[in-house]
Amino acid sequence: MAVNWTPKSWREKEIRQVPVYPDQKALEAVEDSLRAYPPLVFAGEARRLKKELAKVVDGNAFLLQGGDCAESFAEFKADNIRDTFKVMLQMAVALTFGASQPVVKVGRMAGQFAKPRSADTETVDGVELPSYRGDIINGIDFTSEARIPDPKRMVAAYNQASATLNLLRAFAQGGFADLNKIHRWNLDFIKDSPQGAEYEAMSARIDEALNFMKACGITSENVPQLKETNFYTSHEALLLWYEEALTRQDSLTGEWYDCSAHMLWIGDRTRQLDGAHIEFLSGVQNAVGMKCGPTTDPDELIRIIDRLNPQNEAGRLTLIARMGHDKVEDYLPALVRRVKQEGRNVVWSCDPMHGNTIKAETGYKTRPFERVLGEVTNFFAVHRAEGTQAGGVHFEMTGRDVTECTGGARAITDHDLSLRYHTHCDPRLNGEQSLELAFLIAESLKKARDDHQVSLAKAS
Ligand code: PEP
Ligand code: CO
Repeated sequence: MAVNWTPKSWREKEIRQVPVYPDQKALEAVEDSLRAYPPLVFAGEARRLKKELAKVVDGNAFLLQGGDCAESFAEFKADNIRDTFKVMLQMAVALTFGASQPVVKVGRMAGQFAKPRSADTETVDGVELPSYRGDIINGIDFTSEARIPDPKRMVAAYNQASATLNLLRAFAQGGFADLNKIHRWNLDFIKDSPQGAEYEAMSARIDEALNFMKACGITSENVPQLKETNFYTSHEALLLWYEEALTRQDSLTGEWYDCSAHMLWIGDRTRQLDGAHIEFLSGVQNAVGMKCGPTTDPDELIRIIDRLNPQNEAGRLTLIARMGHDKVEDYLPALVRRVKQEGRNVVWSCDPMHGNTIKAETGYKTRPFERVLGEVTNFFAVHRAEGTQAGGVHFEMTGRDVTECTGGARAITDHDLSLRYHTHCDPRLNGEQSLELAFLIAESLKKARDDHQVSLAKAS
C-alpha cells in the first residue's frame, strides 16, 4: 500500500464517470449514515476469495463471474436473485464436471448499481438530459427530475445489497446448493430446452457418482462441501463515496478492506494510472479486478499492476479482457506475453460482453450469441498459444427468460428482442444461453485438460 493512502486519498486525484451532487450537505449526511452501518462482507471472507483465486492463477481452479449489467430497484425480487443464483450453480457444475476443477463463483450481485456511460447526456426527440448512471445515482425515467443525482439512493442500494447478500448466504450455506438436489435447480423454462436435456443427463451422472460415494460412506453429512458452497459478491467500484464509506480496518490485521463486496473491479473507462479509482483500490486488500480493452497498453498495464499488486500476490488481481470477438487476437497476445515476461501473477478472465454490443435494426442494444462465444473461443486460443492460463469468464446474465441477446440454441432474432427486454443497461444472456455457453466452455476445458495429460504422458 502506498505510504500516503487513506480511504479518502482518492479525493485528491482526478476522477471520471461520477456524478456531481448538487447538494453537498445531503451527500455528507448519507456518507455519515453509511459509515455507521455494518459492513456487508468480512475481511476473512475476502481473504478466502483471494486464496481461491490464487488456485486459478496456478491452473487449479476456474473463475465464473456473472450477473446483471446493472442491478435495479425495480427488479429487486427474491425470485430474480434465486434464479440467477441457480443458473450460476448449474453453470458451475457443468464447468466443474467438464474441467474436473473447482469453480470459484462470484456474482455481479449485491452492489452492482453504478454505471459508467459513454456520453454524459442522452437526447430523445430533441430533448437532452443527463444520462442514467444506475439506480444508486439517478433514475432511469426520461425526466429532468429523475436524472438529478440523489445521494439518498446510496442508502437504498446498501439496503438492497444487504438483503440480497442475506438471501445469497442462505442459498449457498442453507442446503439449497446441496449437490444431491441438483435436479431441482433446473428452471422451468430451461427444462424443455436442449440445454435442459443435457443438464439432466449430466445430473444423472453426478447422482450416480454421489450414490457410489454414499456407498463408500461419503455423504453431505460428513463432507459439508457436498451440501454447501462459497458464493462471493462483486461489483464495479465506481461510486467512490459509497465504497469509501464501507471501507473498514480489519481488527485482526489492521489492513483496510472495502466491505461493500468481496471483490471490486475497475472499469475500462476509469483505469487511469493516476486517477482516483486506481488510487482507491490500491489501498484496500480485497481481490480486485481490472478491465482490459483494446486501448490497454502493455507498458501501462505493468505500471498499473505495480500499483494494484506491488507484492505480486497471487489471487489479488484479475485482469478481465473485453476486446470484442474480432479484436482478441490483435490485442490480447501482447498483454498476456508482457505480463508473463514480467512474471506477474494474475488471473486472466474473459468478458465476452462489452466488446460485442451492437444496435439491432429494431433499435435495441444487443449482443449476438455467436460473437460472445467467439470471443471466449479466441481468448482460450490465445492462452493456449502463449502457454498461459485462461482462468475464467465474466458474463452479464440473468436467470430470467429475457430476450436481450440474439442467437443461441433458441435462435432469438432481432424481432424477438422486444418480447422480454428488461435490462436497465446492457443486454444480458438469459438462463438458457448462459447454460449453453457453460457447456461449450466445459468442453474446451475438458479438451485442454485431455491434451495436457496426453503431452505429459508423451513426455514421461
Ligand atoms: C461493465 O462491466 O458493466 C462495464 C461497464 O464494463 P467495461 O468497463 O468493460 O466497459
Ligand atoms: Co455492462
